[in-house]
Amino acid sequence: MANRDSRVTIHMAASLDGFIARKDGRVDWLETTDKFVGGDTLDPGFVEAFLKTIDCYVMGSRTYETALRFEARGLGWSYGDKPTFVLTRRELPRTRDTVKFHSGDLAEFVNERLRPAFRSIWFVGGGMVSAECLRLGLADEVRYAILPVLIGDGIPFFERLDRDVALHLAEVKAYKSGMVELRYEVRGQRGESRNAT
Ligand SMILES: NC(=O)c1ccc[n+]([C@@H]2O[C@H](COP(=O)([O-])OP(=O)(O)OC[C@H]3O[C@@H](n4cnc5c(N)ncnc54)[C@H](OP(=O)(O)O)[C@@H]3O)[C@@H](O)[C@H]2O)c1
Repeated sequence: MANRDSRVTIHMAASLDGFIARKDGRVDWLETTDKFVGGDTLDPGFVEAFLKTIDCYVMGSRTYETALRFEARGLGWSYGDKPTFVLTRRELPRTRDTVKFHSGDLAEFVNERLRPAFRSIWFVGGGMVSAECLRLGLADEVRYAILPVLIGDGIPFFERLDRDVALHLAEVKAYKSGMVELRYEVRGQRGESRNAT
């Protein structure tokens, strides 16, 4: 049974032209040098407190492989000690106990396993898994961080989405780094915004 209080969020950072990685998977362009004088500063204390509100992460195997490469280069593991579910049909290395692998019906997994157990469920990429999550009507909100850069080509935020998805803009924040964070609620399904008209 789905927990009525649970919330599925899709969160990624993308270039202004809508790519989450270069075609070969590189994300070097995430380091930008813009300055927006009127923007907010990301307070580390706020970020730490906010991350505590996330109960588990879900990601595709290619995103997991990128995370493993980051970790191997000494850049850390971004998902703390929270349960992290990796969608894959392959045998992949497992570097920590919090990582669990899953394959099969994503709707059943989210509605019958994750929603009853976790309140705040974060899908953190990549484009293929995010699109699958939206296609299946599983997402309640989309958080889209736009970086001040155009990269021309790459892996799109939502890969091969086969229909329109109506959204309600719930929050906009601009940061000193030139990043703009948009939070949209997904309309017309379980996550229908109560504020949207
Ligand atoms: N900018 C950002 O914020 C951001 C965030 C996340 C990722 N990224 C980048 O995006 C790229 C990866 O994105 P992507 O779209 O190529 O791949 P992805 O969504 O990370 O992973 C796709 C893979 O997940 C597995 N999968 C998907 N649905 C499944 C299901 N229902 N059951 C079992 N397995 C399933 C399949 O892999 P198998 O072959 O293993 O079965 C599939 O090929 C990386 O370069 C990463 O660095 C960027």
